[in-house]
Amino acid sequence: MSIADLPTRTADTSAPLLGVLADRWSPRSYDATAPVDELKLTAALEAARWSPSANNSQPWRFIVARRGTEAFDAVAANLMGFNQAWAGSAGVLIVALAETVDENGQERPWAKYDLGQAVAHLTVQAHHDGLHAHQMGGFVADGLREAFGIDGRFTPISVTALGVVGEPEALPEALREREIAPRSRAALDDILLVNA
Ligand SMILES: Cc1cc2nc3c(=O)[nH]c(=O)nc-3n(C[C@H](O)[C@H](O)[C@H](O)COP(=O)(O)O)c2cc1C
Repeated sequence: MSIADLPTRTADTSAPLLGVLADRWSPRSYDATAPVDELKLTAALEAARWSPSANNSQPWRFIVARRGTEAFDAVAANLMGFNQAWAGSAGVLIVALAETVDENGQERPWAKYDLGQAVAHLTVQAHHDGLHAHQMGGFVADGLREAFGIDGRFTPISVTALGVVGEPEALPEALREREIAPRSRAALDDILLVNA
């Protein structure tokens, strides 16, 4: 089955969405031979840079590791086994770090919130540009700290695989099934605690 034959990845919504939001999805099969276009990578990082944050504090940092570099291998080596099974084919691995404590030792209470929003913007821009992104929480934070000498003020929160989507056949069987399973969400009514 080619990617073109996949059941729709488009979100089933009760009101029309921007196409990029409806169509964004998180693949695990990436084309291990395709480089990520540098302008598109820069655009994704710019989208993160221009996202809003509490008091414009911009409490985010990124480690950008292109496939074929030592940095990429160091990030990949610190993914949990399940993620190592697929994410090494992505063109770029991006570690997202929250500045949870500022340079004066004060807590930044919204740092993780702001970082998540920045990564969301990154994924949407990437998808708009024809790339695919897949965020991961399954990684060893202390391993990344050691590998990259990360200051204690910064907390690694996620690793995002970014690249050119590949064919589901390239995945081991269990992952292949998940790759082509329909995307699903809780119903809108179930997530609105109050809708007065
Ligand atoms: C914070 C976060 C952590 C995640 N961790 C993992 C992970 O470790 N491994 C993985 O395969 N997917 C991971 N995902 C991907 C989610 O499983 C995926 O976004 C979700 O199933 C919805 O699918 P969709 O993005 O295709 O709509 C993570 C996503 C987020 C936002």
